[in-house]
Amino acid sequence: MDRVEGTSEPHREWKTIFVTGGAGYIGSHCILTLLEAGYTVVTVDNFTNAVGIVKDGHSCVAPSIQRVEQITGKKVIFHHCDLLDKKKLSEVFAEQKIDCVIHFAAMKAVGESMQVPFLYYKNNIMGTINLLEVMAENNCHEFVFSSSCTVYGDPGDALPITEEHPTGGVTNVYGRTKFFIEEMLKDIYNADKRWNIVLLRYFNPVGAHPSGIIGEDPTKPFANLMPYMAQVAIGTKPSLTIFGTDYETEDGTGVRDYIHIMDLAEGHVAALSKLKREPSLGLKAYNLGTGKGVTVLQLVHTFERVTGTTLTLDLKDRREGDIVAMYADPSLAEKELGWTAKRSIEEMCRDFWKWQTQNPTGYRGDVSHMIPAAKSNLSESATVSLTNGNHSAVNGH
Ligand code: WQD
Repeated sequence: MDRVEGTSEPHREWKTIFVTGGAGYIGSHCILTLLEAGYTVVTVDNFTNAVGIVKDGHSCVAPSIQRVEQITGKKVIFHHCDLLDKKKLSEVFAEQKIDCVIHFAAMKAVGESMQVPFLYYKNNIMGTINLLEVMAENNCHEFVFSSSCTVYGDPGDALPITEEHPTGGVTNVYGRTKFFIEEMLKDIYNADKRWNIVLLRYFNPVGAHPSGIIGEDPTKPFANLMPYMAQVAIGTKPSLTIFGTDYETEDGTGVRDYIHIMDLAEGHVAALSKLKREPSLGLKAYNLGTGKGVTVLQLVHTFERVTGTTLTLDLKDRREGDIVAMYADPSLAEKELGWTAKRSIEEMCRDFWKWQTQNPTGYRGDVSHMIPAAKSNLSESATVSLTNGNHSAVNGH
C-alpha cells in the first residue's frame, strides 16, 4: 500500500459516504459538494424537518435530494429512515460498504428543545447511539459529527473563540444534546482507538446554493434570523422582531458569525480528506466559522441593500437564552484542514434571496400534487397553503 506523502499513513481510497439527515438544509448542500468531489452518497432522512412524501408506506420523494441530483447530474441513494428504527437503519447501512459517515440528523430548534426535552434527548442522543452501533457492527469507524458552537455556552469576552475553550456551559436542551454527544464520542474513542472522529462546530449557517435551486425550507416552526428576514421581505410575515437593542455591541444588537452554507459544506469535504489521510487522527474538533462577528442590524441592512427590500422592524427586548456575542477563531481548520470560509455576507444574502424568490413556498410546490395520495410531514402552517378543503397533509411518516 502506498503512503500519504510525507507521512507513514497509508493512502486510503474512499468511495461511499453515508449521510444522515440528507434531505435537510445542511445535509442537502453537503451532499451536493460530496457528489461534486466524486463520492457516492447514501443518505437517510425521516422528514422531521425536511419536506418529503412517503407513498403507500415505502417509496418516498425528497424534493431537496431530487434537486441536488438535478444540479449535479448524479444520483443519490436515498432511504426514508428514522435513526430510532435501528432494524431498518442496519438494513440500509449494510447494503454497501460505507467508508465514512457524516451525521447531520438532529432536531435543532433551541426554543422547542426547552419545551420537549424528552423528544430532543431521545431523537438526538438515542439516534446517534443507534448509528454508532450500526457503524461498529459493519466495521466502520470513520465519523464526522455535525456539532455546534452552542457547546461553548456563553463565551463572555473570550472571543474569537478557539477549540480549546471549555465546552459544556450550555443553556438549552438542544445545545446540551450536542455537548453530551461530543462527550460520548470522546469516551467511545478512548475505549476503542479504531474510531477516527472529527467534530465540526458550526456557527450560524445561512445562504443557499448560488443556483437558487436548493435552500433552507424547514417544515418545523423556525426562529432563525435569515429565513425569518426573507419571509418578511417576500411578505409572508408582517415584520421582523429585533431581539434586544441594548447589548454592549457596536449598535446594541447581538453579534454572530454567519457562514455561507456552501463554505460550511466544503468544510465537510475537507474534514473527510483529513480523516482519509490520517487513519489515526483520533478525535479532533474544528470551528467552522468566518472569524467575523456581525450584528443583527448589520445583517439586516446588508440584506436590504443586496435585495433592494425594506423590512419593517419591531425593536423588542432581548430573547431569553440569547448570548451577546459569538464568533469563531477558524485558524485551526485553516491550518489542519486547509479550509477557510471564502464567501461574504453579501453573497449569503444574495444567494438566500435568490432561493427565496425563486421558491416562495420552498419545496412544497414539488409535492403539493402528491398530497392526497401520500402521507407527508408538512407542518400545519405548510398544509394551509395545500389544503383544498377536503383534505390536508397529515403529519407522520
Ligand atoms: C441570531 C441573532 C437573535 C431572529 C443558531 C442556531 C443554533 C446554532 C447557532 C447550529 C440573535 C437575533 C433572531 C429574529 C432577531 N447553529 N434574532 N430576530 O440563536 O445564534 O442560534 O446558531 O447549531 O442551532 O439556532 O441564531 O438566527 O436565532 O439568532 O433579532 O427574528 O439574531 O437575537 O442575536 P442563534 P438565530
